[in-house]
Amino acid sequence: MALPSGFIEELIERCDIVNVIEDYMPLKSSGTNYVGLCPFHSEKTPSFMVSPSKQIFKCFGCGEGGNVISFVMKQENLSFIDAVRKLCDRCGMTFPENDEPDFQIRSRILELNREAARYFFNTLQSDEGKPAGQYLLKRGLTPAAIRSFGIGYAGSSWDGLLRAMTAKGFSQAELLAAKLVSRGKNGGLYDFFRERIMFPIIDVRGNVIAFSGRVLTSGDEGRKYINSPDTPVYSKSRALFGINLAKKTKSDFLLLVEGNMDVVSLHSAGFDSAIATCGTALTPQQAQLMKKYASKAVVCFDQDAAGQKATDKAIGILSGADIDVRVLRLPKLRGENGETIKDDPDSFIKREGADAFRKLLSKPPSDTEYKLAEIKSNADLSSDDGKIAYLKEAARYLATVPNDIEREIYTRNTAIDAALSEQALMNEVGRVRASLLREKKKKTANKAANPLSVIQPQERGLRYEDPAAAASEERFLVLLLSYPHLLKTAEASVKPTDFSSKLLASLYEKVLEMSKEGKYISPATLISGLEENEARHLSGVLASALPSEDPGAELLKLINNITIAHIKRTGGTQDVLSVMLAEKRKRGNDNAGTNS
Ligand code: GTP
Ligand code: MN
Repeated sequence: MALPSGFIEELIERCDIVNVIEDYMPLKSSGTNYVGLCPFHSEKTPSFMVSPSKQIFKCFGCGEGGNVISFVMKQENLSFIDAVRKLCDRCGMTFPENDEPDFQIRSRILELNREAARYFFNTLQSDEGKPAGQYLLKRGLTPAAIRSFGIGYAGSSWDGLLRAMTAKGFSQAELLAAKLVSRGKNGGLYDFFRERIMFPIIDVRGNVIAFSGRVLTSGDEGRKYINSPDTPVYSKSRALFGINLAKKTKSDFLLLVEGNMDVVSLHSAGFDSAIATCGTALTPQQAQLMKKYASKAVVCFDQDAAGQKATDKAIGILSGADIDVRVLRLPKLRGENGETIKDDPDSFIKREGADAFRKLLSKPPSDTEYKLAEIKSNADLSSDDGKIAYLKEAARYLATVPNDIEREIYTRNTAIDAALSEQALMNEVGRVRASLLREKKKKTANKAANPLSVIQPQERGLRYEDPAAAASEERFLVLLLSYPHLLKTAEASVKPTDFSSKLLASLYEKVLEMSKEGKYISPATLISGLEENEARHLSGVLASALPSEDPGAELLKLINNITIAHIKRTGGTQDVLSVMLAEKRKRGNDNAGTNS
């Protein structure tokens, strides 16, 4: 993203994070900071903190964190650029819209996608698309649904779309950027989607942002669906198939299903709140998007092991976004030989009719009921051993239900259902719960006794290789941000390449660079441009940093730690070590002397 240099810095400076967040939620002042109920997970006591001096936010409950731009991105489910655009409007800065190549490519891709959707739609209506059209009708889609979803067909030619779009004035670079064509081994271009039923993925504003292509003949080897890879206008983890139509529903819930076909067939049958993810597990961003249109969600995934797993995951994410989740379980279907048949909403409606589905939808079970039913359906109740295993498993789950009343009611119902004494099951649940609580307490105590495990970033892929060194490096950066007069000493003693963590080294480099340019270095600016998970971790480090009692002395200690760790990593001997340290200390002292 090539915005003019200094643009983001100025935006962050102009949009005070406390003011912006207060547009969305109340904040209470608490010491030098502000606190409130975290908008990104559900909580009753505030663990969401905003620092006016550092211009960052951090939730110590769910871990979200970042600067004013990351807040708007998450809160409004916007891309980085759209969040910047929104903040520009708010503080009266002009967004460098038209002469920015990146914006041009975005709007060109959207135009191209729209034309491509039209092309696929026309192909479906043509002779070449006849078999595909018949297939869709056979699967019960109405012509009206085909039209409102803009379903089309990609023919068998290697370059049908390529030629048609080139004739409309789109360049090869644009077609490649939209991921509508690929480059072959010989360097030539060919259509990405061929011989597939094409589902355009359309955002809430009505833009065609990507495509999902399904093979025509099932049972073929190869992939059933091919989905567009991410592009400048499309991010799989933020998009929802069908949201452009479902957002207009009159029902108070969104119906989350797995397949594109399920969405279209549900809409055909009158369930106009159906949506699906685009071939990935549900993400928190998608949950936030759903929350904008409904406070409730009903999950109805495929009735197989993979679907059950995906359901469990979706329940966690949706309730984390404070959405009231219900789970619709389709009755288990047995084949002629007693085997379970994979069922999904589409096949259920085909077989049992829309009314049967509506009936199920009118009283979907809560997530606890769902989970208990799932445990029961996986159990073997024909033997005593099986029954005992089932009740143990049920007790293990019941023990995790946080609400006392709910836990008691569900425990009682489960016992009655299994013709077991209520007291016996209550005792078992109580026993498991007590041991869970003990374990949790032990974990918290361990964490307090071993601070290194606390600094280890939560996200995998961001783990520090040398946690002790990284702890010093983090604190070193915190000191430089809080006490800029220490920069000279720091720079003379430690190079970014001495750092163990690449991420922290790159931040240190940024600090040095900005100070050279005479810029004010704020924590908020420093974390802009980082990956989301990096920003989340670092805002935690910055937000929870305590002031130093003697910054100069503390810095020298950190310089020693960082240097020793670096020399150890690069295999230095003890002798070299002490010589180098002595030298560093001397240099450090000299600089500190001339600067303070
Ligand atoms: P049918 O009922 O068989 O027409 O398909 P469906 O729309 O019900 O889809 P299904 O339940 O089989 O799959 C759910 C979703 O997973 C699809 O909508 C796709 O987004 C994704 N998916 C399925 N198969 C593949 C595949 O082979 N590759 C990729 N990338 N995604 C797939
Ligand atoms: Mn299906």
